[in-house]
Amino acid sequence: MNIAIIGAGKMGHAIGTRMVAAQHELTIYDRTKEKAQTLAEQLGTRVQAAPLSQGISGDVIIVALPYAATREVVGAHAAELAGKIVVDISNPVDFQTFELIPPPGSSGAEEIAKLLPQGTSIIKAFNSNFAQAIIDGTVNGSKTTVQIAGDDTKAKQTLMHIVEASGLAAADVGPLSAARTLEKTALENIKKMFSQ
Ligand SMILES: NC(=O)c1ccc[n+]([C@@H]2O[C@H](COP(=O)([O-])OP(=O)(O)OC[C@H]3O[C@@H](n4cnc5c(N)ncnc54)[C@H](OP(=O)(O)O)[C@@H]3O)[C@@H](O)[C@H]2O)c1
Repeated sequence: MNIAIIGAGKMGHAIGTRMVAAQHELTIYDRTKEKAQTLAEQLGTRVQAAPLSQGISGDVIIVALPYAATREVVGAHAAELAGKIVVDISNPVDFQTFELIPPPGSSGAEEIAKLLPQGTSIIKAFNSNFAQAIIDGTVNGSKTTVQIAGDDTKAKQTLMHIVEASGLAAADVGPLSAARTLEKTALENIKKMFSQ
């Protein structure tokens, strides 16, 4: 399976570590080629690196960017993402007010879905996992569980297999609208973290 991760930050590194463990073909994309290259070299000799400007290829595209950047990049590259499985991991939080950015009755994932061409599968996953828990593979002695929401059952199964093969547990939490709950729960965890 050819997997692309867009974003060479903390989550790009964490998810990339797992994808390499599962021996997937992995390409790291970033807006700067150097940053993508540095992470690719950290992850392993078989990992490719490319600037976003080169265009995105892969079967499963994991967008490891802040919410606003996810919207920006998905919108700009929508044609290249057509027909692929696109994974949104973002927590759409306004860090000034600690409120969710998407309008009531929607979620970041559903707003991003509106930017993609028909026939593209969007999945919400990883937003409720801290980067370190993905790298460690465990939380409080139990396997780290990745909660996965989406409307395309086949695409969801593909991601669940990828997650499980990488050494993590996967839980199907329902349709894409379940991202509303995933994002709310993550917001509460973020608030707790900032209040400590
Ligand atoms: N960290 C966690 O534990 C965690 C857990 C769950 C979910 N998440 C979600 O995962 C996503 C990534 O978080 P992170 O912790 O990996 O953040 P991060 O370490 O700050 O990395 C963010 C990456 O996004 C890139 N970026 C920012 N704005 C961009 C733009 N406009 N266009 C292209 N690239 C852009 C950054 O590139 P530059 O370095 O060039 O700015 C950087 O590579 C966020 O949506 C976050 O809510 C994070």
